[in-house]
Amino acid sequence: QQIDTGAVTVEKAGYKHFMAKEIAEQPAVLGDALRHYLRPDGSLNLPEELDFSGLDRLTLVACGTAYYACAVAKYWFESLARLPVEIDVASEFRYREPPLPAKSWALFVSQSGETADTLAALRYCAERVEKTVAVINVPSSTMAREADLALPIHAGVEVGVASTKAFTCQLLTLAVLALKAGRDRGVLSEADLAAHADALRALPGLMNTALGLSDDIARLAESLAEAQDVLFLGRGPLYPLALEGALKLKEISYIHAEGYASGELKHGPIALIERSVPVIVFAPHDRLFDKTVSNMQEVMARHGQVLLVSDAKGLQAAEQGTWARLKLPEVAEPFAPILYALPAQLIAYHTACAKGTDVDQPRNLAKSVTVE
Ligand code: G6P
Repeated sequence: QQIDTGAVTVEKAGYKHFMAKEIAEQPAVLGDALRHYLRPDGSLNLPEELDFSGLDRLTLVACGTAYYACAVAKYWFESLARLPVEIDVASEFRYREPPLPAKSWALFVSQSGETADTLAALRYCAERVEKTVAVINVPSSTMAREADLALPIHAGVEVGVASTKAFTCQLLTLAVLALKAGRDRGVLSEADLAAHADALRALPGLMNTALGLSDDIARLAESLAEAQDVLFLGRGPLYPLALEGALKLKEISYIHAEGYASGELKHGPIALIERSVPVIVFAPHDRLFDKTVSNMQEVMARHGQVLLVSDAKGLQAAEQGTWARLKLPEVAEPFAPILYALPAQLIAYHTACAKGTDVDQPRNLAKSVTVE
């Protein structure tokens, strides 16, 4: 099958689905984005006019998967740049008509650059903030034209309705922006910046390792496909990734899935736990790992089936009682969501394949939602 996007024709190139191809392309396209935004000497290649130093607040607005990219980026702007960030889904933001501080910028994330609600939110902000920035995949899109500044994510054409490579390239672009903000605001030293840049450059290699989990995940997906409900848990910047993992699974496999902050488990979702409910936990061995382990133990004590996605240290520390484990390489703590996105996507993909659903064209969904 070929897809004619107007400018280019995209083929499946031997893959069963566009989604599988787009998942596999991530090390390459992330490498392209890195080469664009990081110079060989480690400095950031971003327009001079993007000076975050005097800002009081940054507002991030998007829909769907792009919104979860914003939710991850909030952690980065706050921790790496000490910049207050507000995030919202565009359909709420536009009608809420929120007050915006004069010394603020608004940033819109959209693969297509055409999503109606996000565009309306951009137009609302145009007269009210110092600067509007669009982080888009389609450089000729309406948002790219209307924003004061457009930053391409370099993911290449994405055909699968469920966003995959656009998500990780959105994250990479937002990570680079957070580093710029950290430098401009005097929070990050040159040495900090160089270390973070090295951590970002390591990602394509780590992603290649993660793609090697595909066959293991396909085996686990045979069981996951039997589930009625699946819970995803994560902490810190892995919390929005849990939300994205649940969204991916429900979009293409039609299994009911919910993402929760691990610490919220006891405030409701624990009531759902029983033997038939798989709980997928994204937990690198970071400073909050022990807290997540105790959440997992609460699940296992109620016979929930835990699939732990972690690194060697994490798996060693929390092996007991889990149903299944997936080992990822170690990754610099802030940027873990970029790597952990791959198993989240592969879990959804293989579960949908096991169920025999239409992976690239899921029912009721559209790639680009240009009407309300
Ligand atoms: C649709 C797509 C999603 C996407 C969302 C936002 O719902 O199915 O994959 O995340 O729109 O699209 P955008 O083009 O603005 O990123």
